[in-house]
Amino acid sequence: MNTENKPWAGRFTEETDAFVETFTASIEFDKRLAPFDIAGSIAHATMLGHIGLLSDKECKAIVQGLEGILEDIERDDFHWTAELEDVHMNIEARLINRIGDAGKKLHTGRSRNDQVATDVRLFLRSEIDLISAELQRLQSALLGLAEREADAIMPGLTHLQVAQPITFGHHMMAWYEMLKRDGERLADCRKRVNIMPLGAAALAGTSYALDRDLTAKLLGFSVPAANSLDAVSDRDFAIEFASCASLTMMHLSRFSEELILWSSGQFGFIDLPDAFCTGSSIMPQKKNPDVPELVRGKTGRVFGSLFALLTLMKSQPLAYNKDNQEDKEPLFDTVDTLKHCLRAFADMMPHVRPNRSAMVAAAKKGYATATDLADYLVRKGVAFRDAHEIVGKAVRLGLDTQRDLSEISLAELQKFSPSIESDVFAILTLEGSVTARDLFGGTAPKRVREAARLARAELQGAKKS
Ligand code: ARG
Repeated sequence: MNTENKPWAGRFTEETDAFVETFTASIEFDKRLAPFDIAGSIAHATMLGHIGLLSDKECKAIVQGLEGILEDIERDDFHWTAELEDVHMNIEARLINRIGDAGKKLHTGRSRNDQVATDVRLFLRSEIDLISAELQRLQSALLGLAEREADAIMPGLTHLQVAQPITFGHHMMAWYEMLKRDGERLADCRKRVNIMPLGAAALAGTSYALDRDLTAKLLGFSVPAANSLDAVSDRDFAIEFASCASLTMMHLSRFSEELILWSSGQFGFIDLPDAFCTGSSIMPQKKNPDVPELVRGKTGRVFGSLFALLTLMKSQPLAYNKDNQEDKEPLFDTVDTLKHCLRAFADMMPHVRPNRSAMVAAAKKGYATATDLADYLVRKGVAFRDAHEIVGKAVRLGLDTQRDLSEISLAELQKFSPSIESDVFAILTLEGSVTARDLFGGTAPKRVREAARLARAELQGAKKS
């Protein structure tokens, strides 16, 4: 392809191979960075004007030209071309085309290397803010469910077997805690994203006395990057984001797995809203939990992107290498996947209805209060190991005669241990069991309500910060 349009054509004598031109171009995907590229260029030009490297007139022409280009792009009235390789050169060429010679001065003291690193950071910072908002919306939905279902009893499971009774609200608060940590990680990651590469130029910095603090301030970056080589070459901030995203997706995938199990005919613990399910083209009775299944499935691509980014980085010598162009697609896909999965969950969760009677029936069937009976015997002076043995025998009787522990008569229970008295029935009920777990972090409805109240205040605080 003809090199004459290319800004770097000067030292070349041969044309670019046609396939190589498309092979090396990133425009198909990096045009998504256009608003950030333009914001970065406006700040750079403003700073160049401020330090006298551009006249006021030139600076104004550049800023207005870039604003006009942004409008064109938003109106979808911009011809992107692979001949100009990437978003940076497409926009710069259009600027020169639009305002003439002043446009040729924009790239003073800048390289595409610090430019692209800046664009990706600005993009990711804005996406982190959107993702955090979705995360908080989901956290708030979980708190709503926890408050509403603070006393809805369900079987708590270990090894997927009935273990001890818990409340549905307590279970929702467990998910809340996981997401809270995800939000904290994301906020921490944002701090390292919000550092400005501009001024690093190609790799060594620049001989112009750029006011990097001013550019950083104009773009809302906390500080300019402290080392020019590092600034243009590392993508650890993107990898860190992908690892935060992977953890969140891992959590969402676990929630999904539970929702899928719970909504199955075998469990019947919850009803998923119709609007979030689909039917089968052949089996008329089916209502499939598509949203959680897709979220569980999409987790794989986010993990994959994390590995793509780690592998992309691992063998690169300093400073910038073209390898880094490969950071965009996995990063964009991670951002979109995470944001959409959180959105679907935040929209769906407020409409999830637990089926209280099915959950109670399942808890009863599984002898969920067996530990409570053992604890009762310990309080009456029996050693825990002996108590364990006694309760095991009582459970055996229950299994043989198809009764819950609370349905076995006092006389029968006393055959296993004379320490059992009529007050035992208060602790053999599911309500008695959950109410007794009344300590910080426990499943007692009172504690769940308190945890949800504290979490609400915390979430309000996180939203403000
Ligand atoms: N499209 C390139 C990227 O995404 C921009 C930087 C190009 N720099 C260079 N020296 N070729 O990384």
